[in-house]
Amino acid sequence: MATNVESLTKETLELLRPFAAKRSVDVAIETAAKELAGPVDAGQLQQVISNLVMNAIQATAAGGHVKLRWYERRAEPPPDVGGAEGTYLCLDVADDGEGIRPENLPRVFEPFFTTKEPGKGTGLGLSTVYGIVSQHRGAVFVQSVPKHGSRFEVWLPATAAHARSPGPVARASALPLKRPQDAVILLVEDDTHVRALTRKVLEREGYQVCEATHGPEALRVWSARAGQIDLLLTDMVMPGGMNGIALASELRKQRANLPVVFMSGYSPEVAGRELSESERRHLIEKPASPRAILQAVQNALAAPSMSMTALDAR
Ligand SMILES: Nc1ncnc2c1ncn2[C@@H]1O[C@H](COP(=O)(O)OP(=O)(O)O)[C@@H](O)[C@H]1O
Ligand SMILES: [Mg+2]
Repeated sequence: MATNVESLTKETLELLRPFAAKRSVDVAIETAAKELAGPVDAGQLQQVISNLVMNAIQATAAGGHVKLRWYERRAEPPPDVGGAEGTYLCLDVADDGEGIRPENLPRVFEPFFTTKEPGKGTGLGLSTVYGIVSQHRGAVFVQSVPKHGSRFEVWLPATAAHARSPGPVARASALPLKRPQDAVILLVEDDTHVRALTRKVLEREGYQVCEATHGPEALRVWSARAGQIDLLLTDMVMPGGMNGIALASELRKQRANLPVVFMSGYSPEVAGRELSESERRHLIEKPASPRAILQAVQNALAAPSMSMTALDAR
């Protein structure tokens, strides 16, 4: 018996709309996949959604954004969840709110852990999410950058057989969402030589790389690989009428917290002027050493600059 997560999510959001409207927070949903064939308790799933969205709204100031996204991931078990092969249906709940302090991050799934005033929070929302996801043999992860936002990622086995398999072990984690070796990188660079070298460096480290020579081509690759790309590594200045910043901004309309590393032939001082402060942390100067490239990629994957605000404000 399949569950349509799209209608389930919309139903759940209807109940939260008044609360979001009162705080002037925009809540949007995108569904790249919506069939959950594995056995799920619809009521429990709604509870997961509403706890995550409620937290996101509470963490976000007026004018902020909460974005839900359902999508599928194949044969790509999340880290520390065991070797389960199969398809997962994933839900991201991302906000551009206050974020979570690093020292609190490992504790958010603990029962009764709350940073809210007495009466405002029980500290049970996320431990409930964790419990429900565990029962469904899935996993939940969180990433956050203080002052820039948070992203919770829920993984659920998508097929009935998979959901019953003994493989996956539910876990909550505040670790980066993926081991770097699993990440798929979209490399955008017009210089053939630099592109080939960069690709080699990344592949030697175990990353999967797909390439494009300029912005418009990168957009095509992005749509062809629906939801599979984990990081954008892009040149700043490119032909094709779209520079690296415009490309990043375009892709982040679709995934607000996409990690991005910029490469620039100009000095960081010059190139950095066009970037937000959090973006600048992920800027590397060309020619970049293999070490500098890998370090920047790793940093960005661990703490993407969630600059919905920074980019959209431009
Ligand atoms: N989207 C979010 N943005 C910022 N902080 C969050 C978010 N979600 C959860 N938290 C943090 O995790 C804590 C625990 O969340 P939860 O278990 O739902 O309890 P409660 O909401 O009652 O405090 C919150 O108090 C808050 O500090
Ligand atoms: Mg809560």
